[in-house]
Amino acid sequence: MTPDNEVRFRACLDDVAAYKPGRPPARTDGRPTYKLSSNENPYPPLPGVLAAATEAAAQMNRYPDMGCVELLEALSARFGVPVSDLAVGTGSVALLYHLLQATVSEGDEVVYAWRSFEAYPIAVQLTGATSVQVPLTADARHDFKAMEAAITERTKVVLVCTPNNPTGPVVRRNELLAFLDVVPSNVLVVVDEAYREFVRETEVVDGVELYRERPNVLVLRTFSKAYGLAGFRVGYAIGHPEVVGAIRKCALPFGVSYVAQAAAIASLAVEEELLERVDALVVERARVVGALRAAGWDVPESETNFVWLELGDDTVKFAEAVQAEGVSVRPFPGDGVRVTIGESEANDLFLGVARAWRQ
Ligand SMILES: Cc1ncc(COP(=O)(O)O)c(C=O)c1O
Repeated sequence: MTPDNEVRFRACLDDVAAYKPGRPPARTDGRPTYKLSSNENPYPPLPGVLAAATEAAAQMNRYPDMGCVELLEALSARFGVPVSDLAVGTGSVALLYHLLQATVSEGDEVVYAWRSFEAYPIAVQLTGATSVQVPLTADARHDFKAMEAAITERTKVVLVCTPNNPTGPVVRRNELLAFLDVVPSNVLVVVDEAYREFVRETEVVDGVELYRERPNVLVLRTFSKAYGLAGFRVGYAIGHPEVVGAIRKCALPFGVSYVAQAAAIASLAVEEELLERVDALVVERARVVGALRAAGWDVPESETNFVWLELGDDTVKFAEAVQAEGVSVRPFPGDGVRVTIGESEANDLFLGVARAWRQ
């Protein structure tokens, strides 16, 4: 019991595990170090994007445009969706927090696959709602039959991560359509497509296509990964105006900085060049996956900028072995290790450890 003279917090905070960011690489005897623990884009900013952000920084004494008008208009033109169907936030994870704040509280349930994005359980728990985690299939995909069975009268939101972080596979169009056909229309289905630009599988679901016909679908995307703006925190949501309006009500005023807005707008203007970099990362992904499989690793299909190694009890030991080479990766103790596709020298250092591990 809390003594009378101590500050009182909401009970749902009691078991909230703090979000663990990917570790920076440890220094090793002057050799270069690499960070493959946060699914960041290894390319530095394009000059035009950097120039736009630098110019915007000169206005740091002013609040940014709270309505993000220019960025919303650019996104509207890019995706062919009305501005009323768009919201921007400080990363797509912020939009997820706002959305959950707008929809669920004590007594409500949020269904999602597990293992998936590590922010989901935290975001749900902070609202006081209950997470209902549905195990992935043996090949690390969403199990929609089991997710359907997990839906109850208390379910208000379902989170679908495609491609799935940290395992890599996508949700296919026919799978999600069949699922949406059985989900009650008053349950919101959030399609988290943070890695959408890295997908090459043709049967993949496209959340933006889907939302046009389904009022209970909300799409989350981000400038953090393919567009290389992780440090500026800009994500966007596409959904029907009632859903987007609820998100906007929960957003912090002036959240997305002027610098971030300028960089995002400039990135859309040079999208072709940025997506060429994504193509190069996809080629590198194929090289890494091929090398791992040749070394005897059973790697799930990755449609993202990372690969997943199921290591069970060896997870932490493996992560430490890679760290000893100056490369940080992301261990999920007892489960597996997620390794971002980064600079080829970094990928080679990781592959060296992975090959040796199998011998
Ligand atoms: C599946 C997924 N969704 C959302 C995010 C959040 O991205 P951001 O908040 O940087 O837009 C991430 C970041 O790692 C992610 O992996």
